[in-house]
Amino acid sequence: MNTISNTLFVGKVFITLASVDSTNAYAHHLCATTSPIDGTAIFTTEQTQGRGQLNNKWESEPQQNIALSIIFKPDFLKIANHFLLNQAIALGVHDLISQYVKEDVKIKWSNDIYVGSNKIGGILIQNSIQGTNIQHSIVGIGLNINQTEFSTAVPNPTSLRLLTQKDYDLLEIVEQLCIYLENRYLQLKSGQHLLLKKDYADRLYLNGIWAKYLRTADNNLIIGKIEGVKESGELILRTNMGLEIFDFKEIKFLHQPI
Ligand code: BTN
Repeated sequence: MNTISNTLFVGKVFITLASVDSTNAYAHHLCATTSPIDGTAIFTTEQTQGRGQLNNKWESEPQQNIALSIIFKPDFLKIANHFLLNQAIALGVHDLISQYVKEDVKIKWSNDIYVGSNKIGGILIQNSIQGTNIQHSIVGIGLNINQTEFSTAVPNPTSLRLLTQKDYDLLEIVEQLCIYLENRYLQLKSGQHLLLKKDYADRLYLNGIWAKYLRTADNNLIIGKIEGVKESGELILRTNMGLEIFDFKEIKFLHQPI
């Protein structure tokens, strides 16, 4: 496949690679050396150096799963609003997974996709800035589809196959994914910020529920209740200290409601 047919711009240029170090790295290289059009997608089922957030590796068994990067040009979005793009993308992936599983799908802050307390997908967004706006944004998405066994280094993984006992055609799912992402991206572009924030909050994992967390600075256990996210993307947690704000590196979820 070299184009997605049922979208306006996402995946109109669709580059399929048999194997690559990382689709995000490939997208960076494209942006540095050419002028890829908005919505250009890079897809593979084998990454040799897949990257996750916080410099983590993204592990995925070859030929079993989806690794996709899309180059967006959200030049309409101020840097201060960059988290809205994360929210729109996480919602697009959530919309997709919700079509396939009967369980509740959640977005674990900031943009992991969870079913129950297991991770089915991760998102790595890398923005390049020009002035006060985002020039281009490389949106990398990894989804566990047909893989059934995971290395012990991967925390609490699941896959569509594990959840539904079915095998999936990866290209069909990628096509659907592009459609869902485009819908949410167009909501963002047309200024439907309140809708995106509300949908994100409604689907946020452990939102409004008391649970256990780890404060990474001192490795101390915190009991907290998520009360939302700031415009800039930080997590707002109610604890015995009142409302506390955490950025991504500062807190770990222990996945234990109390
Ligand atoms: C995370 O959960 O930490 C984010 C994982 C993001 C993985 C995807 S797979 C496609 C793209 N290419 C990469 O190297 N990483 C992202």
